[in-house]
Amino acid sequence: MAVITRVRGDITRQRVDAVVNAANSSLLGGGGVDGAIHRAGGPEILAACRELRAGHLGGGLPTGQAVATTAGRLPARWVIHTVGPVHSAADDRSALLTSCYRESLRVAEELGAATVALPAISTGVYRWPVEDAARIALAAARRAAVGGAFAELRFVLFDQRAYDLFDPAG
Ligand code: APR
Repeated sequence: MAVITRVRGDITRQRVDAVVNAANSSLLGGGGVDGAIHRAGGPEILAACRELRAGHLGGGLPTGQAVATTAGRLPARWVIHTVGPVHSAADDRSALLTSCYRESLRVAEELGAATVALPAISTGVYRWPVEDAARIALAAARRAAVGGAFAELRFVLFDQRAYDLFDPAG
């Protein structure tokens, strides 16, 4: 049974096996978590993403799906890129946000990652309300924690409000 933990800090500094990236479909970088991971991880990560785009992900990574690359210079073995849904008041995309966590953790398990750092996907540029994102993320983590493949699923929150809301005991 994995422990689900939370820390306030920078996801690029987490010493874990796999780091989940809040990417976009292009896989070619961006701001927020994506920018931080590429900046800290170095060009190897972008090179690996470009290879994916030249191969089976020619059309980009669809929302809700996940794919792994090297972690470059990060203190981790892999980065698992996933594309969160942009929040919409008109259209309930919760299943896609759930899919980001479920698919990222499925890929992590396939890789044999025992410890995984996860951001608050979609709650920045993609404007997902943090309370609802926390509910979705923690539910997905609890389901993955039961399997026994993981030692620690660590949510890494950048600001205090997100940290307060991503309460595994909540
Ligand atoms: N470590 C941990 N969390 C971080 C970091 C960091 N270094 N930087 C930002 N965050 C937090 C943000 O405060 C937010 O709560 O991660 C959460 C997700 O925000 P974004 O990174 O903006 O991700 P998202 O909302 O999923 O938007 C993805 O933004 O950066 C671009 O290329 C990315 O187009 C994609 C979009």
